[in-house]
Formats: sequence, C-alpha cells, structure tokens
Amino acid sequence: LTVSGCERCEGLIDSRSRIVDGVGPADAEILLVGEAPGEAEDRQGEPFVGRSGDVLDSALRDAGLARADVRITNCVRCRPPENRDPRQPELANCRGYLEREIAIVDPSVIVTLGKVPSEHLLDRDVAVTQEAGSVVSIDIGDQSRRALLCVHPAATLYDRGQREVFETTIERATEFEGEG
Ligand code: URA
Repeated sequence: LTVSGCERCEGLIDSRSRIVDGVGPADAEILLVGEAPGEAEDRQGEPFVGRSGDVLDSALRDAGLARADVRITNCVRCRPPENRDPRQPELANCRGYLEREIAIVDPSVIVTLGKVPSEHLLDRDVAVTQEAGSVVSIDIGDQSRRALLCVHPAATLYDRGQREVFETTIERATEFEGEG
C-alpha cells in the first residue's frame, strides 16, 4: 500500500514534495477516494488534512465515525501544479496503485469524493451534485464493487447547500458497514 520512487508522471515530479499514500486501516469497511493531494496534503504526507479534511472529519464524526475508522486515499498520489485537476494520463499512471489498494482493503463501499474520482471509477460523465447519494456497481480489476457517489468536501466551503448533501452521503456510507 506504499508507493515509493514513482516517476511515471513527468508533470508532477516537480510539483510534489512527496508521494501521498492512503491512510487508515488496511481492512477498513469504508474507503474514501479523493482526487489528488493539495498543498497541505503534500506538506504533511496524508490525504485530506487541509480545509477539505476538516469538513470530512466533521462529517465522519457526525456519522459516528472517527477518521481512524476509515481508509482515505486519492486517485492520484502526487500534488498537481497549482492544484489543477489531475490529467487523464496521470490518472491512468496512478490507476494500478489505486486498484491494488482497493483489492487489499476490500471495502464494503467506496465513497467517491467529487467529480474526478466519480468519473474515473465509473468511467463515464458524472454530474456529482445531481447523483450524490446514489449507489452504483463498478468493475475494478475483475471485481464488482459498490460505490457511493459523493460531492467533494471542498464544494461545501463555497456552497452551504452542499454541506448537507455531503453529510447525508457520509452518513449513508455507514449503512454498508458489515455488508460484503
Ligand atoms: N482534495 C482531494 O481530493 N484530496 C486530498 O487529499 C485533499 C484535497
């Protein structure tokens, strides 16, 4: 679950100061997948530790979960320059690491945090504000997995209405704990 020395993405080697791997139990029931590390994550070497992380932690708490109860990772493990969205080749380069993490953790539910991870894992366009809260089956590797679509926590910083959607979706994730 640890990636070291990866240099597959030419465009990210200079913008990252480290590779940010997933955190949390390797047998977590809930796996949250974000987009890519931002500045705080790149500095601290952990996903979702900046402002988005505060929103996430608080929603987890409201749902009766501690951050340490869930696994948190990203589609791309290196910070893109100026926090731009990760590009298709970067998502593709990092895909194997994510697939391996999903296979090892074998979660009951994968929560996609925002448009980038939702589209990456569903392999289609996703209007995440419209589809947040819906549960879909996705094929990853040779396995069918359950995904719960969610808005990105950063969306709640600029739009209070999204806050409730985000919290309700995180709460919903707990319904799948203990389900295969
Ligand atoms: N946003 C993400 O998508 N991932 C992080 O780790 C932090 C912010």
